[in-house]
Amino acid sequence: MRALREALGQFATGVAVITTSTEEGDRAGVTVNSFTSVSLDPPLVLWCLSNRAPSAPVFLRAGRFVVNVLAAGQDHLSRRFATPSPDKFAGVDLLAAPLPILAGTLATFVCRTERVHDGGDHHIFVGAVESYQRAEGEPLVFHSGRYREFWPEMAMDGAA
Ligand SMILES: Cc1cc2nc3c(=O)[nH]c(=O)nc-3n(C[C@H](O)[C@H](O)[C@H](O)COP(=O)(O)O)c2cc1C
Repeated sequence: MRALREALGQFATGVAVITTSTEEGDRAGVTVNSFTSVSLDPPLVLWCLSNRAPSAPVFLRAGRFVVNVLAAGQDHLSRRFATPSPDKFAGVDLLAAPLPILAGTLATFVCRTERVHDGGDHHIFVGAVESYQRAEGEPLVFHSGRYREFWPEMAMDGAA
């Protein structure tokens, strides 16, 4: 299992904090690197959550979630939302909205949970993007179990 985890860790990713709030006001937030885009038309995204995560029942009940894409320098938010705690949101800058949206991120996607698939020991949450915003900046990067810096001067020209 450790060897598999280490091999999977060679795939460099960004880092996102997925947040939600139920109608009763229960909030949850969890750091993930399993976020990915699925479809542009219709706009769909997915992320995976351990079915043993204490926050799983909140996300299943809420039926909505926000993907907060972290910027370089926001590793403190990544650590905070990756550590179990009774109130992960204490002292965290939030934008005023029905759902908790983290301030200062690179992008935000507000989603309605379209479907939850069984993914072994994880739930696969597929969300329909209802609104989004983006900002300029460098991403927080995760590779081989460590946070990394992205060096724009090393960026290669062209997307193909
Ligand atoms: C960079 C990073 C990426 C992570 N990605 C995931 C992920 O994709 N899915 C997941 O279930 N947990 C992931 N985790 C672990 C969760 O953030 C952690 O278990 C968290 O405590 C879960 O929240 P909860 O305890 O409030 O349920 C990741 C942790 C880090 C540091």
